[in-house]
Amino acid sequence: MSTSAAAAPSGAQFAPEHIMQVGLGFWGSKTLLSAIEMELFTQLAGHPQDLETLTGRAGLHPRSARDFLDALVALGFLERTDGVYRNAPDTDLFLDKHKPSYIGGVLEMANARLFGFWNSLTEALRTGELQNEAKGGGVPLFQELYADPARLKGFAAAMTGLSRGASLQIAEQFPWGDYKRFADIGTAQGDLSVQVALAHPRLTGYGFDLPELGPIFEEYVEQHGLGDRLAFVAGDFFAGDLPRADVLLMGHILHDWNLEEKRTLIAKAYDALPTGGALVVYETIIDDDRSQNAFGLLMSLNMLIETHGGFDYTAADCMEWMRTAGFARTRTEHLVGPDSMVIAIK
Ligand SMILES: C[S@@+](CC[C@H](N)C(=O)[O-])C[C@H]1O[C@@H](n2cnc3c(N)ncnc32)[C@H](O)[C@@H]1O
Repeated sequence: MSTSAAAAPSGAQFAPEHIMQVGLGFWGSKTLLSAIEMELFTQLAGHPQDLETLTGRAGLHPRSARDFLDALVALGFLERTDGVYRNAPDTDLFLDKHKPSYIGGVLEMANARLFGFWNSLTEALRTGELQNEAKGGGVPLFQELYADPARLKGFAAAMTGLSRGASLQIAEQFPWGDYKRFADIGTAQGDLSVQVALAHPRLTGYGFDLPELGPIFEEYVEQHGLGDRLAFVAGDFFAGDLPRADVLLMGHILHDWNLEEKRTLIAKAYDALPTGGALVVYETIIDDDRSQNAFGLLMSLNMLIETHGGFDYTAADCMEWMRTAGFARTRTEHLVGPDSMVIAIK
């Protein structure tokens, strides 16, 4: 036997499952996204239904209904007993629109927008150009969103769903006892401020965002009875100063912007903090070896699709930018799932 023949990989050594699973991953992804679009899990919450009833209520064609619903069973989103379909427990908690724990908003947006835009990934990889509504001089999504309060509220609520796990963890994990006042920069609906304020009755805080978010933040804060401790500050973080506070938080902000803009925002945070104050940056921070946090790396490709210069980054990258801005000490802590926070002390 020749050496090269002996070294050739055999079918028994390798299996194609992983390649096929990722390559055809859009089958499962779109099945889930369509179920969310049809509000299937909301209909099933508290009302398990048989095939015939569900087919009629969801407006499914008889040809598709059984395969669609059973695929959702096989994927773990539904359960079926004696022909009756019900939500799996986690589906029921997170994908029933009537529960405050609903996280489907971000998936609704993914279905309506990103699923199509990602079809142009190859073009984005070759050109470095974004592929969303703004492609070729179109009206950027955010311009439309800020002009439509109802849609803007939907977006802010979707961000709350996406960030909820990390927000609860930051409220619990960060040493809040050392500080009095915080400001959440790019706060959207303000869930991080709300979770921190609920967990620490001594603290007061600001939510900082573009003026259009003011009423949405204030309504959410009032719903939680925190109007006496949380206030909205309207501003553009590139045009003016950041609010002064002991702790500044930036969640899913830096990855939207290019390196120069990232450095500008970190420098503004440094200026707004007192000596000993902290900047907390959190998002899907990529592992330093850039080989493990696939979600963080794919998020960065999503920034390629969605923004002119945005990208995700490692904790080592972020700490280097923070130290260059003058921060004395930096550290990173894992939060939950793909999310970590990077902390800098002035
Ligand atoms: C991706 S969302 C992050 C929301 C929230 N921090 C979270 O992690 O869930 C980005 C936020 O930054 C805000 N934003 C964008 N440009 C801004 C600017 N120039 N000044 C202030 N806020 C801005 C947006 O309105 C939006 O609420």
